[in-house]
Amino acid sequence: MNKLILNIEQAKEKINKNIYGHFAEHLGRCIYEGFWVGEDSEIPNTRGIRNDVIEALREINIPVLRWPGGCFADEYHWKDGVGPREERTTIVNNHWGGVTENNHFGTHEFMDLCDLLDTEPYISGNLGSGTIREMQEWVDYMTHDGESPMSDWRKENGRKEPWDLKYFGVGNENWGCGGNMRPEYYADKYKNYQTYINDHGDNKIFKIACGSHDSNYHWTEVLMEEAADKMDGLSLHYYTVPGDEWENKGSATDFDQNEWYITLKKAMYMDELITKHSTIMDKYDPEKKVALIVDEWGTWYDVEPGTNPGFLYQQNTLRDALVAGIHLNIFNQHADRVKMANIAQTANVLQAMVLTDEEDMIVTPTYYVFKMFKVHQEALQIPIYLETEKYKEIPKLSVSASKNEQGEVNITICNLDPENEAKIETVINAIKANEVEAKILSSDNLNDHNTFENPDKVKPEGFDKFSMEGQKLVGEIPSSSVVLLTLKK
Ligand code: AHR
Repeated sequence: MNKLILNIEQAKEKINKNIYGHFAEHLGRCIYEGFWVGEDSEIPNTRGIRNDVIEALREINIPVLRWPGGCFADEYHWKDGVGPREERTTIVNNHWGGVTENNHFGTHEFMDLCDLLDTEPYISGNLGSGTIREMQEWVDYMTHDGESPMSDWRKENGRKEPWDLKYFGVGNENWGCGGNMRPEYYADKYKNYQTYINDHGDNKIFKIACGSHDSNYHWTEVLMEEAADKMDGLSLHYYTVPGDEWENKGSATDFDQNEWYITLKKAMYMDELITKHSTIMDKYDPEKKVALIVDEWGTWYDVEPGTNPGFLYQQNTLRDALVAGIHLNIFNQHADRVKMANIAQTANVLQAMVLTDEEDMIVTPTYYVFKMFKVHQEALQIPIYLETEKYKEIPKLSVSASKNEQGEVNITICNLDPENEAKIETVINAIKANEVEAKILSSDNLNDHNTFENPDKVKPEGFDKFSMEGQKLVGEIPSSSVVLLTLKK
């Protein structure tokens, strides 16, 4: 028996909605085809952005969207992507397949996408190969409200009012594709570049410094020591890669129980990473003024057979649903330091929400996890005590809980064990729940996934294996499943 105690009266930390953020890069078929089809396309669109994708994503309440990269960000020159589309220059995407793109999706189109999704933009600036002036002018172009060369140019290009832009990243993975820098060198460059990012009018920029990846704790240490007083957020990247070698990451759909276990164990590692990076941050910033921004996370497998290796197109199974549930539970639990996270990536790349094939679109099991978990956005995190059985060497259950403004309690539970259900007894202090609603995402086989031929193979269903016994909620979480329980007064 597993035991969960919810300390509802101690709930005080808000779960920032931006933990449910997303990332869209000029990579493979994410921006082009995934979002942008152009105004003349036969695929139904709004000003060039496909309607089916907008509609699906609106359902999951995307709070913030990061763009244009990724590695692409430090090669992107924003001026190439504004002005009349037919006059825009082409560029070669050196990182991702060496393809030439026409820059038809640029700043105006991205801001339009954010408006259509009702989401906040998060722009990644080019520190690796761009100049300070270029970065400064991009922020001026987007946010200056008076008369200035950049705001005049924006108006000429059809946008009178400045946009609201809060989140700005100063470079991406500058320890790698963003310039192969040492942390000391990047810290100096960061301080230099960020000096020229200005607030205009009421617009206040939240500056995000490039942080570490995986267990590179030294990077976090140096950045915090050198530049904590000049940043609002520090990033962290971690991908769940089942294979031990980069050349053999493992298939997205063809895996056995052992690979299932390894993948989930690696997903659970996010907890240790956040704990250790946060401990370093606490040393320099005990008041937690600097947010930890996990702006790239998710599964990374070998690409689907027959697809361009530079396009990172992969399928998405029940295993990905578990990986998503585990991560979101971990982020919720660390809500005091983690203020944003962005899954990589929204469409057609890595652990995607939607997959498209010309005019067709399907949603993935990961999409449904985001749909179920959206109840936690801006709710108060409930401190929990969990006694869980083991699945091999890792906990069998991953859990988080929150209380919303209406006083409803939402508990999200993943059972990682592929064979055995988990009996659970939940002690609920401080509220009297009269009604319990539950949803479950699971499927018969671990590698079940949605396809264009069978788009509804994996989707959430109602669930009733729970009952209230006094102040206890008693029930069973089926093997390999993600469950949402809502307790209503
Ligand atoms: O998401 C794919 C790539 O992974 C990003 O471009 C880069 O930042 C990371 O290495």
